Amino acid sequence: MSNDFEKMASELQESIMEDARKVYSEKVIERWLNPRNLGKIRNPDGFAKIRGPCGDTMQISFRVKDGRLSKIKFMTDGCASSIAAGSMATELAQGKKIEEAVEINQQMILEALKGLPEESVHCALLASNTLKEAVKNYSDSKKCNFGKSEIKSRDAGI
Ligand code: FES
Repeated sequence: MSNDFEKMASELQESIMEDARKVYSEKVIERWLNPRNLGKIRNPDGFAKIRGPCGDTMQISFRVKDGRLSKIKFMTDGCASSIAAGSMATELAQGKKIEEAVEINQQMILEALKGLPEESVHCALLASNTLKEAVKNYSDSKKCNFGKSEIKSRDAGI
C-alpha cells in the first residue's frame, strides 16, 4: 500500500517536473527548488518590501560592510519565477559595492536565469525594483545618493 502511494507520488512529481521543464530553464527550476539567500536579516542596513501588479510581494534586506553588500536575503509570497528571480537578484548583488548593486536590473536577472516565460518577466522586475528600493532605503538612512536616480528611472510597471 505504502509502496503504491510512494510510486504514485514519485510519478506525480516527475510529471510536474516534466511540465516545468517545458516552460522554465534549468536555472529557474533549480533556484525555485533551492533558492539562495532566502530569509530576512535582522537590523538590516537596507530594506524594502514591494507589491507587484500581480499582488505578490517581495522583500529584500541587506547589510553593508566596507561599502559592499556583505549579506543579503529575500523573501516572497509569489510564484516560482519570483522565487528564482529573488534568488538571482541577491546572488548578483552579494559582495557588490552599493553603486554596483543598484545597477542590477530586470534584464540582468533574466539573462542570469536564462530567461523566463513572457507572462513571468514581471517577476524579475519585482526583484530588481525591490533591490533598488532597498538601496534607496540605505541611501536615505546614510544621506547619500546611491539609488536615487535609478529609482526615478526604474522600469515602469511597479
Ligand atoms: S511575482 Fe507575481 S506572478 Fe510572479
